[in-house]
Amino acid sequence: MIHELEYKKRRQKILKRVSKNSITLLFSATPKIRSNDTEYPFRQNSNFYYLTGFREDNACLLLIKNRKKTKSILFVHKKEPQQELWNGKRLGKKEAKKRFLVDEIYDRDMLETILKSESKDKNTLYYDFKADKQKLENIKTYKDISYHIGLQRLIKSKSEIALIQKAIDITALAHHNAMNIDKTDMNEYQLQAEFEYIFKKNGAYNDAYTSIVAGGNSANTLHYIENNKTLKNNELILIDAGCEYNYYASDITRTIATNGRFTPAQKELYNMVLEVQLKIIEMIKPNILRTTLQKKAVELLTDGMIDLKILKGNRDKIIKKELYKKYYPHGIGHWMGIDVHDESPYKYKNGKEIALAKGMVLTIEPGIYIDKEDKDVPQKYRGIGIRIEDDILVTENGFKNLSLSIMKKI
Ligand code: GLY
Ligand code: MN
Ligand code: MN
Repeated sequence: MIHELEYKKRRQKILKRVSKNSITLLFSATPKIRSNDTEYPFRQNSNFYYLTGFREDNACLLLIKNRKKTKSILFVHKKEPQQELWNGKRLGKKEAKKRFLVDEIYDRDMLETILKSESKDKNTLYYDFKADKQKLENIKTYKDISYHIGLQRLIKSKSEIALIQKAIDITALAHHNAMNIDKTDMNEYQLQAEFEYIFKKNGAYNDAYTSIVAGGNSANTLHYIENNKTLKNNELILIDAGCEYNYYASDITRTIATNGRFTPAQKELYNMVLEVQLKIIEMIKPNILRTTLQKKAVELLTDGMIDLKILKGNRDKIIKKELYKKYYPHGIGHWMGIDVHDESPYKYKNGKEIALAKGMVLTIEPGIYIDKEDKDVPQKYRGIGIRIEDDILVTENGFKNLSLSIMKKI
């Protein structure tokens, strides 16, 4: 778990980044309707959670920066016995005061009043442009706070890394279970259910994203989440599934054989992707650029596809014309943390790319996708989609593969 002091330090750090005479306003997520009057399970807004650790809705964080002093204020939902009877207990401001290390706590309905008095002598309001719309009397300048929080979220603390590791360790149990069980005549969603069962059984209440369980040609749909077809013998299954543990994600893809045995053609393609993945992971260290990893992945995958006669012609031409994109259309990886695609920038405001640094976590996930109708490719490879994805921590001198324990050799 993350200590209250860590949240306090995060707020202090953000307060150092924002300008003087400013206020910063962040809201909790809003419950979303699934059907008529029933809701999806509530999930807190990531930036709000990062700065508070507070999991209830109808809450707000106000950070105030005067010329010399700073102040943080949390607004929480009122205690309302009748409402709590239906929807569960609220912490309320009295209990919240004991737990959260903010300077002041009020009921949520006090926000308007306090905002009015606090904003009188301020000129800048920071808020999350993507989540929210704001306009305040007296305020001239509006700035997006998400860039600043995103930069801060890039570097994971020890306790954050421990939670990510825990998520990955639970996800490992689920992937290994999928490798072991008899999948003959199973439907994709039944295999998906095995993942969700193991996640929950081990204390991970949510998936970090909707699982992709794609047998055979379904793997060639990148965001395949229908998961409703029967798994066939002799086909591969691409499983991209990871749990979220205490608000931290894991994101793991393994491609396995339905009957546990790869055909020679599947083996050739699989080993090519695996070799590329291992080489790219080996390159990870501080100061290297993600675009350098991407470029190298394109070169290696293109070489591999030329060797296997999937692509024909001159390597440099194929790369220049981006012909490889037909079979490898996505990026090599992304930041991961509280969000599976962590909401952190890839470039600074001045356009310069952000290089890898100690404490960052990113995925490495090369893949090859060959549609079953693709007549340009040797028949034996058609209908095969492969991705292999691990979660990597950048360390002082290199990297640590946090998902190394999850098997991936044939
Ligand atoms: N599971 C989403 C991704 O791999 O980016
Ligand atoms: Mn990913
Ligand atoms: Mn994934």
